[in-house]
Amino acid sequence: MTSDGTGARTALRLRPLRADDEGAFRHGHEVMAAEDFIFGLGYEPGMDWSRYLGFLDDARRGVNLPDRLVPSTFLVADVAGTLVGRASIRHELNDFLWREGGHIGYAVLPPYRRRGYATEILRQSLVLARAVGVGRTLVTCDDDNAGSATVIERCGGELDSVIETGPGKPPKRRYWIS
Ligand SMILES: CC(C)(COP(=O)(O)OP(=O)(O)OC[C@H]1O[C@@H](n2cnc3c(N)ncnc32)[C@H](O)[C@@H]1OP(=O)(O)O)[C@@H](O)C(=O)NCCC(=O)NCCS
Repeated sequence: MTSDGTGARTALRLRPLRADDEGAFRHGHEVMAAEDFIFGLGYEPGMDWSRYLGFLDDARRGVNLPDRLVPSTFLVADVAGTLVGRASIRHELNDFLWREGGHIGYAVLPPYRRRGYATEILRQSLVLARAVGVGRTLVTCDDDNAGSATVIERCGGELDSVIETGPGKPPKRRYWIS
């Protein structure tokens, strides 16, 4: 991998989940749960896989969604057939997303970090966000998440505000990317 991220750029593809991803995805979900991070949005361990794929398809099309969810595209990051991370692209903002969640969320699984993958996931997600009609893109991270803040700034994020999110929780950094 080159230090300018060229390797990540050529190798990483964002794509929808497939029928044969269940084992790798379930493992990623469990690993990230140990870090208190939700890898599979709306995913419950043991859930029927085709039902989950159906839920993601509905979420992308904005049908059958509970009130708290906006239409969103969920993609995994694939490097030469290995699932290394994921992205969630929200097509619009509700109050919570406007304040704290932003348009795009992402994660890279622990063994694959510090290779430029999160930067590449966000870079590709920004293009996809524009394709579903998002203009200026809000991306947020915890104030103490130095890695994510660097990723957002490398993708052109301009810091708008740092807001309190509640007792015992770190403040949130809110960035806009034009
Ligand atoms: C934060 C996270 C997405 C970074 O993923 P990554 O693939 O390691 O990020 P990149 O390799 O693109 O890192 C880009 C830069 O960020 C900085 N960085 C990354 N991780 C860092 C860390 N733990 N501490 C300090 N700086 C860090 C580095 O400057 C890095 O560049 P360098 O390796 O050339 O020095 C990943 O650690 C993760 O998934 N964490 C848990 C979930 C999460 O926090 N998601 C984001 C929610 S907003």
